Amino acid sequence: MQHDSIRVPDFKERKRRGEKIAMLTAYDATMARLLDRAGVDALLVGDTLGMVVLGYENTLSVTLDDILHHTRAVARGARRALIVADMPFLTYQVSTADAVRNAGRLIQEGGAAAVKLEGGRPVLDVVKRLVDVGIPVMGHLGLQPQSVHQVGGYLRQATQPEDVDRLIADAHALEEAGAFAVVLEAVPSDVARAATAHVGIPTIGIGAGPECDGQILVSYDMLGLFDEFVPPFVHQYAHLADIIVGAGRAYIEDVREGRYPKPRRPSSVGADLKVGPY
Ligand code: KIV
Repeated sequence: MQHDSIRVPDFKERKRRGEKIAMLTAYDATMARLLDRAGVDALLVGDTLGMVVLGYENTLSVTLDDILHHTRAVARGARRALIVADMPFLTYQVSTADAVRNAGRLIQEGGAAAVKLEGGRPVLDVVKRLVDVGIPVMGHLGLQPQSVHQVGGYLRQATQPEDVDRLIADAHALEEAGAFAVVLEAVPSDVARAATAHVGIPTIGIGAGPECDGQILVSYDMLGLFDEFVPPFVHQYAHLADIIVGAGRAYIEDVREGRYPKPRRPSSVGADLKVGPY
């Protein structure tokens, strides 16, 4: 790890200083290397992996081995960013012992510095135990995609006064349990603002307005790479899907028309023995 790398305690310090935290998801070494080079503070190996990389319909099919495999790749690519690994469905809900073993693997074998898990007061025992054994935990409130069937869809959360109170109490409870930050997903911005004011740990918003202490986006969404569904709050900073389709078409046409590869001059044959890393 570089000495200028982002560490867990830096999150709270950033909130104290009023400096916003920029997070993105990453799933492979190349993307991690590029986003790290761009200066992102933390990379989440999110279970959105299931949808944007593995082609599943939701996050529920993602396994610990999937996240472990991709966390290792991200850890090989990133130098400065803090790496947070998502705990997949059923890797922390069954028992605290299971949760410690599974989170421990993401740190020990995956190279993550922290884990993220969904839920508030129902998962407090797990959060406390992980923190007690030295595993930093990022909470996740508001829309919790692992509960998609119970909720009935990917719906905006905390829209009723009693839900707002519950969310703020959950955020508080996570802080008390030792979580170092909490993601707020798909909640109204005034709710996110209130939660942000109530807790001493940074709130990281996604579809939660501008007043959180930081923001996170799914990198495939903000890069315009995953184009099957674009959440309304996403700003696409690039349109990589169009670029890839365009480049693919140009290559296919060149191959079919015999324009690629170009014939080589006889003098250059054998000049470049090393042709690449593969
Ligand atoms: O899995 C994920 O990518 C996430 C973010 C959407 C916060 O949990």
